[in-house]
Amino acid sequence: MKLPELKIRNTTVQWPIIQGGMGIGISNYRLAGNVSKEGGLGVLSSAALDRILTERHGRKFKAREAAAQDVRDAKEISGGKPVGMNVMVALINQYADSVLGSMDGGVDVIISGAGLPMALPEIVATHPRANEVALVPILSSGRAVEVVLKRWARHGRSPDGIIVEGPLAGGHIAWKTLEEANDPANELTKLLDEVLAVVKKHNLNIPVIAAGGIYDHQDIVDALKRGCAGVQMGTRFAATFESGANENFKKMIVDAQPQDIELAHRPGSPCGMLFRVLNKSPFYQEAIARTRKPKCNKGYLLNKGYCPSKEENEKTFCICNGLLSSVNMNPEEKELWTVGANAFRVNKLMSVKDLMQELVHDKDAMQAQSAY
Ligand SMILES: Cc1cc2nc3c(=O)[nH]c(=O)nc-3n(C[C@H](O)[C@H](O)[C@H](O)COP(=O)(O)O)c2cc1C
Repeated sequence: MKLPELKIRNTTVQWPIIQGGMGIGISNYRLAGNVSKEGGLGVLSSAALDRILTERHGRKFKAREAAAQDVRDAKEISGGKPVGMNVMVALINQYADSVLGSMDGGVDVIISGAGLPMALPEIVATHPRANEVALVPILSSGRAVEVVLKRWARHGRSPDGIIVEGPLAGGHIAWKTLEEANDPANELTKLLDEVLAVVKKHNLNIPVIAAGGIYDHQDIVDALKRGCAGVQMGTRFAATFESGANENFKKMIVDAQPQDIELAHRPGSPCGMLFRVLNKSPFYQEAIARTRKPKCNKGYLLNKGYCPSKEENEKTFCICNGLLSSVNMNPEEKELWTVGANAFRVNKLMSVKDLMQELVHDKDAMQAQSAY
């Protein structure tokens, strides 16, 4: 099947593939820039960009200026093709600055999840580029879509697309317990049908995008047949030469077996949502043995203004320190690796160009053609 293009508000992307934002520093300007160059939508992550840009450019950056510069750096690689920014709701301290900075830098799409992005339209409305930028929430139920629609309507805005993220995704997932995450009612296909029905009910002509466990061309075709306009993929892009993951992290993805992948819950992420990890991550090993003393000195992930992992290590562990370490930015701490449930299927690293070629072409059809 020839894959169609993806339209989100004023932005058209050649292939219906969004490379999901991956913090901290995994979906960096090189990864996102190259995905966009190859015709997908490359998405940066705003997490800790102040630190990352300060190191990359050798001068001090604050959050807003860092987000703007990251977009410009990615667009230099993409040749001006559209680029997105992922801003996690849980990064409360820098949320508005990251959104506005991305807009300063010329971002085309803002994607926001890890919580319900209630305030996004209000923040965006203060910027001169408000009408140019597409707003795409990441949601995991029809009910969440209804809540966001109602709230955004107060600011005269409705989502320009919706990413529906199921329980197989990397990073944080929407559920708090293993029972909920494993409940067949929460399988991605069910969530997609639910959200597609809500979108239809409200007569919204917007793309619905499937995320979580999408692995190959056939998965993309299946999502399109279901009524989606595209997919968002994380793990496959983390395992590219261009991603910001360090060599240890990339090797562990390639070597991963199904039993190496688990949902951290007790201790878990201070965000309160389940967080999928490679259980061999040295930082996670320390967390489950409770040998890492409570400590949070980075201040990005705050839950109601406070990070519990600063004071206890029984229920939570500080993810910022571990994630920074797995992009070689925090040598005093061990590494923490987050992946999607299908990471065990990755058996080699690839370039973004080769991965995009593999994803957009139907391998069977190509083989049949060459045999003929
Ligand atoms: C290493 C890694 C980091 C991630 N970080 C974020 C993040 O910062 N914000 C976010 O909304 N999603 C994050 N995600 C989720 C991805 O954007 C994507 O939606 C998800 O991985 C899709 O599932 P897949 O990995 O099975 O393709 C992350 C995923 C991975 C693998």
